[in-house]
Amino acid sequence: MTKKTLSRRKFLGLSGLGLAAAAIAACTPALTPTPSSAPENSTGQTPSSPQPTTTPTNFPQSAADVSLALAAAPAAVQIWPGQPTEVWRFSGTVLAGAADALQPVPNSYLGPTIRMKKGQKLHVSFTHELPQESIIHWHGLHVPAEMDGHPRYVINKGEQFEYSYEILNRAGTYWYHPHPHGITGPQVYAGMAGFFLVSDDEEQALGLPSGEYDIPLVIQDRVFDGNNQLVYRANGMMDQMMGFLGNEILVNGQPNFILPVATRPYRLRLLNGSNSRIYKLGWSDGSPFTVIGNDGGLLEKPVQRPYITLAPAERIELWVDFSDRSVGEQIVLKSLPFVAPEGGMMGGGMMGGSAASLPLGAPFDILTVRIEKASNERSPLPAKLSTIERISPEDAVATKQVVLAMRPPNGWTLNGRTFQMTAVAPEERVKMGSIEIWEFINEGGGGMGMGGGMMLPHPMHMHGEQFQILDRQISRAGKAAWDSLSEGFVDEGWKDTVLVMPGERVRVIRRFADFTGLFLYHCHNLEHEDMGMMRNFEIVA
Ligand code: C2O
Ligand code: CU
Ligand code: CU
Repeated sequence: MTKKTLSRRKFLGLSGLGLAAAAIAACTPALTPTPSSAPENSTGQTPSSPQPTTTPTNFPQSAADVSLALAAAPAAVQIWPGQPTEVWRFSGTVLAGAADALQPVPNSYLGPTIRMKKGQKLHVSFTHELPQESIIHWHGLHVPAEMDGHPRYVINKGEQFEYSYEILNRAGTYWYHPHPHGITGPQVYAGMAGFFLVSDDEEQALGLPSGEYDIPLVIQDRVFDGNNQLVYRANGMMDQMMGFLGNEILVNGQPNFILPVATRPYRLRLLNGSNSRIYKLGWSDGSPFTVIGNDGGLLEKPVQRPYITLAPAERIELWVDFSDRSVGEQIVLKSLPFVAPEGGMMGGGMMGGSAASLPLGAPFDILTVRIEKASNERSPLPAKLSTIERISPEDAVATKQVVLAMRPPNGWTLNGRTFQMTAVAPEERVKMGSIEIWEFINEGGGGMGMGGGMMLPHPMHMHGEQFQILDRQISRAGKAAWDSLSEGFVDEGWKDTVLVMPGERVRVIRRFADFTGLFLYHCHNLEHEDMGMMRNFEIVA
């Protein structure tokens, strides 16, 4: 398969959708991953001279079980034949502790996979070598507010940020990525992301496939130009309102990804690391999926799904047994067609007309599994994986509603508000140690003007502790799109991101324990997040 090259004519023709679009688009710098043409940092400050950042820590670096150095810097990787692609990438070294705490992903822009055990103390010294402010966030981990990578802690080129925290999470597939306000989308797009895998005794006792049979896979979509360089938001404002959609699917940073396997069981950990694309995962031969885990680790017991709906930032862990396959066979993991939510501009046909984007809901191949080796390993799938204590709605001290809506001229909002660096509304305060129900209400469009009537799905993410999904309610207007994806939701277990479809209400319940301070909740469609579809909540003592 060859690369679909962005046609220059189309690019120019669609890049300016009008003055209003240009004005809003100007607020978010387009990505150019080269130091020479880097935009100013988003707070408008000029980069300060190198200065060590002092941050509160729970323990000294010397007390850490694992100490890592992570750096974010420009790099060039071979993605296509010919010219290498310029990217921004995390790289790292183990300063102290187990050498396998960091596993580089070969030939990729992905950052190294971090592997930790529950209860271990981690220290990370983050060195920033990019011409744009940034900070690392540990997606899904329960860490103190000062360690969470809130955008107010951004640092500039030449500066360092010291993290230290204990791994409180249960075994699971977490990840790390930048979180500077307004430019998270372009930075993740440029390559900044990596897996963060946590193990614990309970999980290890299960004897699930491990080592080379436990495979983390991140799915992302991108657009490349004729010189193999990444193109971000060629459609300008349209890409900001909808979220960026690429036309090439990369797995672990590689197109046309082939996964060689043996005839035995595997544990596949999938992360949707895309800026905005939702996948409806299905096998080419229609085999169902056996799901063993999601965002916050293992489920209580395996569950079956005909297909899997995976929204940005969500993770799914699959137990896939290739025992019955024969050597030489191939099976393709696809994204199946689904009904893209309609309304407003999408209904007007704008969605399908974008330059160089594969429309939301369009089918395509993601990766090919090639059965290459025979194996006699037949370790059975455990009937019970974990114990999950249900949080009872009766223990909730409050129910909060968060309305997700387009509110011109602000764009996508949460209860009509957009992000302000340290602002917290009264209803965004939570008492430490309490349990609350949060209800996300996707109203879709609102009012007149740009984006009026726009109906889009929003993958809602909360920092801090994982939540449980209580229930979903879908309106009649949103039913067709919902019906084409809902059998693929995996609402069991612990979650940190939940897809809220247009016309849908989703109630989640969680604890707010251990740490006070400012944490974020936001839409993980990164273009929406960058537009301000993000707010703080504050845990108060
Ligand atoms: Cu994956 Cu607030 O982020
Ligand atoms: Cu997060
Ligand atoms: Cu959104």
